[in-house]
Amino acid sequence: MKKIYGIIGDPVAHSLSPVMHNAAFEELGMDAVYLAFRVPKGELKDAIQGAKSLGIAGLNVTIPLKEKALSFVDAEEVAEKIGAINTIDFSSGTPVGYNTDGIGSLRVLKETVGQINGKKALILGAGGAARAISFYLDVEGAMVTIANRTKERAAQLASRLHNADFIGLEGELERRIKASDILINATSVGMHPNEDATLVNADLMHPDLVVFDIVYNPMETKLLKEAKKAGVKKIVDGVKMLVYQGAASFKIWTKMEPPIEAMEKAVRDALIRDRLHSRIFYIL
Ligand code: ATR
Repeated sequence: MKKIYGIIGDPVAHSLSPVMHNAAFEELGMDAVYLAFRVPKGELKDAIQGAKSLGIAGLNVTIPLKEKALSFVDAEEVAEKIGAINTIDFSSGTPVGYNTDGIGSLRVLKETVGQINGKKALILGAGGAARAISFYLDVEGAMVTIANRTKERAAQLASRLHNADFIGLEGELERRIKASDILINATSVGMHPNEDATLVNADLMHPDLVVFDIVYNPMETKLLKEAKKAGVKKIVDGVKMLVYQGAASFKIWTKMEPPIEAMEKAVRDALIRDRLHSRIFYIL
């Protein structure tokens, strides 16, 4: 029988996860389909129980449900520590929750930077994405600085990590970026339709900085354009993280090796195609 997977969120219509996972199923010749389900926050518990009853094989969870969904699954320890899940697996009978956002970003950074241990990473943002990314960088032995508009949120996140501090977005930011190896934008700043926005300009960057933006629409954000202007050699866009978090979920559900290239191509093609038709925005 055809296996059913999907993503729950609200809004969810513009998620690229269906395009990405269906491309993977097609590439591997699997009899499976991946759909988007809009689930209001108040319906989340019923939706997860209903999915289990219907025999849905696996779900991704996106905004604004990632934190709340933790209460309705058996979460693996890492997801519990991060405080959010983005993946549910139903294969054991009970819903088990995972967080693959951090795994996705770590894979991107390892590919780009090599060893993370001892590196100085500055993360812009203190929301769910920043929580997942900073958790993995911390475990790998990076020295993490959380820079956030709301300083108290930055302080709270930094206090959950082993080797981290925090700053606001003014004053100290310039000096800290100059001293960093890695700069990560984990906020939504620069996402379509606010494509001219960036929290950091070229004059704060240096060529040896690795600059990674989790925003993937547009693929080349203002931050990444500024990085180019500053002569930054290693620039990573948000598509890679989307693909790697999806690939990690795919592996949890199917126990099969995900066809990364086909998944990435499907996402990049869809982004180019949809930009031509100027659709609004995208979510993991
Ligand atoms: P997510 O779970 O997707 O990370 P979130 O929890 O709403 O979403 O977090 C969004 C992050 O982007 C926050 O760090 C937010 O800063 P605040 O904590 O001060 O709200 C940051 N952010 C969003 N818009 C911003 C803007 N215009 N300028 C600076 N930071 C912004």
